[in-house]
Amino acid sequence: MGPRMKSIVGLGLCLGTVATSSAQAATPTYHRDVEPIVQKHCQECHRPGQVAPFSLLTYEQARKRSSDIAAVIDDQRMPPWHASTKEGGPFRDARVLSSVERSAIEAWVKAGSPEGDPKDAPPPRSFDSEWALGKPDLVLTPSESYTLGAEGKDEFRVFVIPSGLTEGRWVSAVDFRAGNAKVVHHILSGFDTTGRAKELDKADPEVGYKTFAGFGSLPSGLPFIPSGGLGGWAPGKAPRPLPTGVGRFIPAGADILIQIHYHKSGKVEKDATSIALYFAKTPTDKLVRPGAVFPPRPGLLSRPNLRIPAGTENYEITGEWRVPYDAHLFAVVPHMHWLGKDFQMVAERPDGTKQTLIKVDRWDFNWQDTYEFDKPPALPSGTTIKMLAHFDNSEKNPSNPSKPPVDVTWGEQTTNEMCIGFLQLTRDDEHLNNQPPKAGGRLRAMITRPAKP
Ligand code: HEC
Repeated sequence: MGPRMKSIVGLGLCLGTVATSSAQAATPTYHRDVEPIVQKHCQECHRPGQVAPFSLLTYEQARKRSSDIAAVIDDQRMPPWHASTKEGGPFRDARVLSSVERSAIEAWVKAGSPEGDPKDAPPPRSFDSEWALGKPDLVLTPSESYTLGAEGKDEFRVFVIPSGLTEGRWVSAVDFRAGNAKVVHHILSGFDTTGRAKELDKADPEVGYKTFAGFGSLPSGLPFIPSGGLGGWAPGKAPRPLPTGVGRFIPAGADILIQIHYHKSGKVEKDATSIALYFAKTPTDKLVRPGAVFPPRPGLLSRPNLRIPAGTENYEITGEWRVPYDAHLFAVVPHMHWLGKDFQMVAERPDGTKQTLIKVDRWDFNWQDTYEFDKPPALPSGTTIKMLAHFDNSEKNPSNPSKPPVDVTWGEQTTNEMCIGFLQLTRDDEHLNNQPPKAGGRLRAMITRPAKP
């Protein structure tokens, strides 16, 4: 049944109720029928200082936009959630309305968006602090803002901030606050215990240091690989704690690294982006281990030989990764740029069983998320993860950054493309009993060779 049909049925049910009970009880009202849904599914973003462009905290704010609300609910644009609910997952905290909730909003709009009795309203939803996960244990911000030029190519910059930690800490959640949401395109983070990042910072006259990809290069020319990763952020990513017992370990004295991909806005902009750390409150047994499915590459550290010809509407890209140990997969992060259309990953286990991990039917660059499984699937050693994605490099793609379209190659610029299925795994044979790990979870799988300047 399509969304339209559902709304007609919803209205029919509603009219049926009108006929059999008092009209007053059946007319949907904001405070009684709609406000609980808006609180639960919309206000996390639609309130001041959050990502959405307007608030939905009062009746008046919802009434003014009621026809837009009906439209975005009808075509399932809001709340934003791009993973299929039929195949793949199921995922934690999926931002999806039930059909009952959808019908309730549609019926309210059709009834003329009546307010009803404020006494029926649920108590206001409280948001602990300006951080979605509550007050962080440690917030770090670069000592000064970085000034980004008005025009030109995207920039990648790494900011190095001393953690000040006098003992090693297990981290159970990480969050970021973009200092200037107009130019921060995505964020990667990690930490360094060798002092090399500090040296790279010192060699660059401005705050932080410039890189072409990853975390930059050492004077030897080799890529600088941080001692460990702390996760990333891209538009639409909601912070969520790691599963209980799973953590990332930051050694005493480490420097925290925030790598920011800036996309210029046409004006000179300033940015100082913060990272927030939440320390584990319960013992940690397993490290987060990174994995990644890439299209075929000539070597482990080289970039895929990708060329998407101008004008192609449905260019297919595939890739595979073999799981090297008995693992559980707790999260997946699909990553493409503006030409991405759809994306899926399927696990094929050595015993022949197949499981769709994630399916994104309508890719939206603005809504990239980390999808965490309700129940992390077991992936025995030797499981193959197969990625299948399609790209639209034609004029028909309204998101195509090049008009007219040009041939597009692999790279970090927004006008390049990528196709990566990032994976977050745990090793079944690892039992740390809260003891510091011998080596931090490395970013190795996530880094491609820097582009030539
Ligand atoms: C995760 C954050 C988030 C959640 C949750 C969310 N929104 Fe939005 N909403 C946005 C952002 C950001 C925009 C701006 C357009 C965009 O980026 O897609 C937006 C735009 C809108 C628009 C304007 C659409 C347009 O085309 O201009 C409406 C209407 C809307 N949201 C309603 C809702 C409703 C109703 C809910 C709850 C059922 C909701 N949103 C939940 C973030 C959110």
